[in-house]
Amino acid sequence: MDEKTFARLDSKYKKKNEAYIKQFESDLLNGKASGKAGGGRRAVPMAKGKPKNMGASIRRLFSYMKKDTWKIVIVLILVLVYTASSLAGSYILRPVINSINGGNGTVATLASGITAMALIYAAGIVAQYIQQRIMIGISQNALASIRNELFEKISKLPLKYYDTNNHGDIMSRFTNDVDAVGNMLNNTIISLFSGAISLVGTLVLMFYTNVWLALITLVMAPVMMKAAQFVANKSRRYYKQQQAALGSLNGFIEETISGQKVVKVFNHEDASVDEFDYLNTDLRGKQLFAQFFGGIMGPVMGNLSQVSYSLTAMVGGILCVLRGFDIGGLTIFVNYSRHFSRPINEISMQMTEIFSALAGAERVFEVMDTDPETADAPDAKAPEHLTGSIVLENVTFGYEPNHTVLKNVSFYAKPGQKIALVGSTGAGKTTITNLITRFYDINEGSIKIDGVDIRDYKRDFLRKNIAMVLQDTHLFSGTVRENIRYGRLDATDEEVIEAAKLASAHSFIMRLENGYDTVLEGDGANLSQGQRQLLNIARAAISKAPILILDEATSSVDTRTERHIEQGMDRLMKERTTIVIAHRLSTVRNANAIIVLEHGEIIERGDHDELLAAGGRYYELYTGKTELD
Ligand SMILES: Nc1ncnc2c1ncn2[C@@H]1O[C@H](COP(=O)(O)OP(=O)(O)OP(=O)(O)O)[C@@H](O)[C@H]1O
Ligand SMILES: [Mg+2]
Repeated sequence: MDEKTFARLDSKYKKKNEAYIKQFESDLLNGKASGKAGGGRRAVPMAKGKPKNMGASIRRLFSYMKKDTWKIVIVLILVLVYTASSLAGSYILRPVINSINGGNGTVATLASGITAMALIYAAGIVAQYIQQRIMIGISQNALASIRNELFEKISKLPLKYYDTNNHGDIMSRFTNDVDAVGNMLNNTIISLFSGAISLVGTLVLMFYTNVWLALITLVMAPVMMKAAQFVANKSRRYYKQQQAALGSLNGFIEETISGQKVVKVFNHEDASVDEFDYLNTDLRGKQLFAQFFGGIMGPVMGNLSQVSYSLTAMVGGILCVLRGFDIGGLTIFVNYSRHFSRPINEISMQMTEIFSALAGAERVFEVMDTDPETADAPDAKAPEHLTGSIVLENVTFGYEPNHTVLKNVSFYAKPGQKIALVGSTGAGKTTITNLITRFYDINEGSIKIDGVDIRDYKRDFLRKNIAMVLQDTHLFSGTVRENIRYGRLDATDEEVIEAAKLASAHSFIMRLENGYDTVLEGDGANLSQGQRQLLNIARAAISKAPILILDEATSSVDTRTERHIEQGMDRLMKERTTIVIAHRLSTVRNANAIIVLEHGEIIERGDHDELLAAGGRYYELYTGKTELD
């Protein structure tokens, strides 16, 4: 990769990642999940300061295990059993060693001591196995709920969220981040708990065995903790960067795979390999640090605990020789001093997992806390039946705050009428349909259906009453039949066929290998663009909604088929209010009214003949005659 390319990519992603991390940190500090503008955002219950945020995330993770509370209690008891058994097991060593050391040990005392130890340890091992089994069940339950909640949330997010967030990054939250959380729930939490118990237990037993030695171990503890904290802080920071880099990489992969044709056509293979290379190298660098600081935790703690161990052995030896401290006591003490450092070790080694999991959890919660589409008003309406009259009054709208896309748009459609929206590319036609379906909410003015503001209807109800063929077709993996039935799930097979016939799709479907049972993969990659459109039309036709919106529905279909569809649709449209958007103006000739948009404003309206006679913009568009400007 040459320097120029590198510099370009570097500035592109550095800014992005930095912004991501900054946003993330500041949101957490301010107790917000996502700092994008917009009132009413639900604040995550997070207080100021880093550790508290961690605490809040942990608490929130725990809340997913609430329904397994009694299982957790059992797990905790089991952990208690096996931690206690490991402590008690070593304690038995003391009298055994002392009796042998004192010269009155027999094979029998040795045998009974060892048997007792074996039994206690065995009980501990059994408890540990059972605990593992239950805990994995608990954490899988929690993960399933998290995934469910995340997916539910994703279906409730406004379209705006998808406009402004990389799809690969959203997917990454679903996969990598949730996985990281899963790892933590499986192991780490139990280690933390058993570590804490064993820490306290060991400490008590150590003081009981020898106060002086216990004090030495205690003095070493803060040193070890400090070291752990230092490494952990570094590790947390790099983990966040790592997750951001991973998100970018996944986003890029997703984009490249779905846009492979375009990549090839524009010979962008090398450029996209370069970009990937950059992102990969970036991730490698971040991962290097993250893993390094996660990984050196173990060795650092190990070395420190060796120091503590040697100190104890030395002082303990001196005490034995000079102060008559029993050898059995020294043996178990040395044993305990290992016990003591082990939980600190274990916990600190798992910091890697904990931090990646918490960073992951925070990214997941960030999605969960994003404002969903505004909730329906408590008294939102959902009447039995709509006739389908539509009135737009002085509608003004912009996708972004300071950029109006539609200005003072007003028009109406009586029930059963066909209204056409025409105008050049980017004029705002699709935007109008986005507003009628409430994909976005208007800034000013009003949109009424059957005389009621659409914001006063239940959103589900509104959308159930609008059938739509989108400008960009989309098919799901599944059979042709399932894809058509998507428009109305209770439609019978006959109705599916009827709708397909209406959309002129029946004949090509019958030519497919398995007819209506042909499985479509990857957005219908095995169909032509026109065929995909026909299926989308059939899907809308099967719906019984009183309002039908066709956005460039037949743009990829040949003119003869288009006429067929039109005849079919005309039958259908008789009972429905239809809004048609088309660049091919022959298809809108018979509309009750044609509305010509330009730069978000209505510049002409009337029926075909009137507009042609007027000789304005419609005339230009229709005849292709335009004054060269
Ligand atoms: N999701 C979006 N976020 C921000 N701006 C958008 C978004 N969608 C469209 N726009 C802007 O709104 C304007 C109108 O777009 P719209 O899709 O309504 O045009 P259109 O009339 O349907 O054009 P076409 O004939 O090409 O389909 C355009 O200038 C576009 O840049
Ligand atoms: Mg459009």
